[in-house]
Amino acid sequence: PPRIASADSPISDLEEQTFRGSLNSYKFPKDFFWGVATSAFQIEGAVNEGGRKPSVWDTFSAIPGRIKDGSSPAVACDHYHRYKDDIKLMAQLGVKDYRFSIAWPRIIPDGRGKVNEEGVDFYKRLLDELNKYGITPHATLFHWDSPQALEDKYGSWRSREMASDFADYATAIVTRLGDRITHWMTLNEISQFTHLAYGVDSQPNNAPGTRVSSKKEVWQTSHHALLAHGLGCQAIRAASPKPCAIALVLDIGSTVPLTESAADIAAAQKAFHTYWFNGGIIFPALTGAYSPIMLKELGADAPDIQDGDLKTIHQPLDDFGINLYTGKYARAANNPQGYELLDFPKSYPKMQATWIKFIPESLYWAIRHVSDTLGRQDLPLFVSENGCITQDELNESGEVIDSDRILYLRQYLRAAHRAIQEKYPLKGYFLWSLMDNFEWSRGYSDRFGIVYTDYKTQKRIPKASFNWYAECIRQNRVV
Ligand code: NOJ
Repeated sequence: PPRIASADSPISDLEEQTFRGSLNSYKFPKDFFWGVATSAFQIEGAVNEGGRKPSVWDTFSAIPGRIKDGSSPAVACDHYHRYKDDIKLMAQLGVKDYRFSIAWPRIIPDGRGKVNEEGVDFYKRLLDELNKYGITPHATLFHWDSPQALEDKYGSWRSREMASDFADYATAIVTRLGDRITHWMTLNEISQFTHLAYGVDSQPNNAPGTRVSSKKEVWQTSHHALLAHGLGCQAIRAASPKPCAIALVLDIGSTVPLTESAADIAAAQKAFHTYWFNGGIIFPALTGAYSPIMLKELGADAPDIQDGDLKTIHQPLDDFGINLYTGKYARAANNPQGYELLDFPKSYPKMQATWIKFIPESLYWAIRHVSDTLGRQDLPLFVSENGCITQDELNESGEVIDSDRILYLRQYLRAAHRAIQEKYPLKGYFLWSLMDNFEWSRGYSDRFGIVYTDYKTQKRIPKASFNWYAECIRQNRVV
């Protein structure tokens, strides 16, 4: 119990003060997990080693102009060779959970057919090393690196064949690694390798960066990805030698009520259906139906849905991963739809990227929308990614004092805490990212890490946010 201060016994010692600080608390439940996340293509490098063949991102990155800073992903963080040191860093941080992805082009270099055991062996070594430190692996099967061979063969996500090839890849992996991994995620952020990778009017930023002739074709790619998720879930369950947990990870378009009046909340809930790609991706995956509001809006652009597709897509899940960086304000409006989505004023705070507006409540609302707006109160949730880009620079003493990243993370985690206090089923949090890495079309210019990567020397330098996060983990609360 707290000691009461009195004249002859002032509360002055640090321990007591810390105790008082922790009363206000932002304390998380005992079984809440704190983790970090990465993905294969963004950190591994070694693109021509161990029998790996190119992915669409290798091809795309080689086209001049596609990567804004002209950099190459060939080496990235060289994690393929340095994984032991990187795992040591995680242990130092104190995380007990690690989200990473497995590279399809390492496991089945031609996309379908023969399994490359040398590729599997890399992940066995990685998993054994994690195990040494008692870190639980959470593996994403697909984080955007489609085998180039499948792009050449049938246009990858433009074809339904991609879904069954993905399921076969899932079977190959789970058969081989299912003794070491029991937490699986099928696909990461469907919108990004479909809607932002195939474009009608403009050059897409993500690989394969293909121009197609209609919006319908683009919607077809995300429909195929949903099918891949469904077939993937079935494949994992059938192949897993142990009971396992399966999740899907999506980027949520979080609509935040401008005020928390009943009218603005209702407006944000309505807006949730059509904002971003929610209605055409999260809705079918978690409810078994595309949002009718969204379908109406799409009209002739809606994808072709074959009999049985929705049933395949709507698989029972053990949990669901929310990737969340930012959001959009909504308010009630006197228009036919009943809401409006608001533009940000010019002076609105953002991080070192125009797209990451500082809007911590977006995390709370993403959680609440998945539970309430989608009616999935039964589904355990975790934050599969959250983090930000800051302009990290080494100071004279060789440190990176990213107090702006700390500001961002602290407020987003407080929003997560609010969700837990209100009994939303949030189980854990993965910070994006352990270390600066290859940020897709932005190359190495955008730094998301709590560890600074010096790409010239491959030296890792923990930033101030690393120590801050370690303290949160140690105290199991937002400090
Ligand atoms: C989501 C993606 O999953 C990840 O690969 C990317 O680096 C982060 N967002 C930051 O943009």
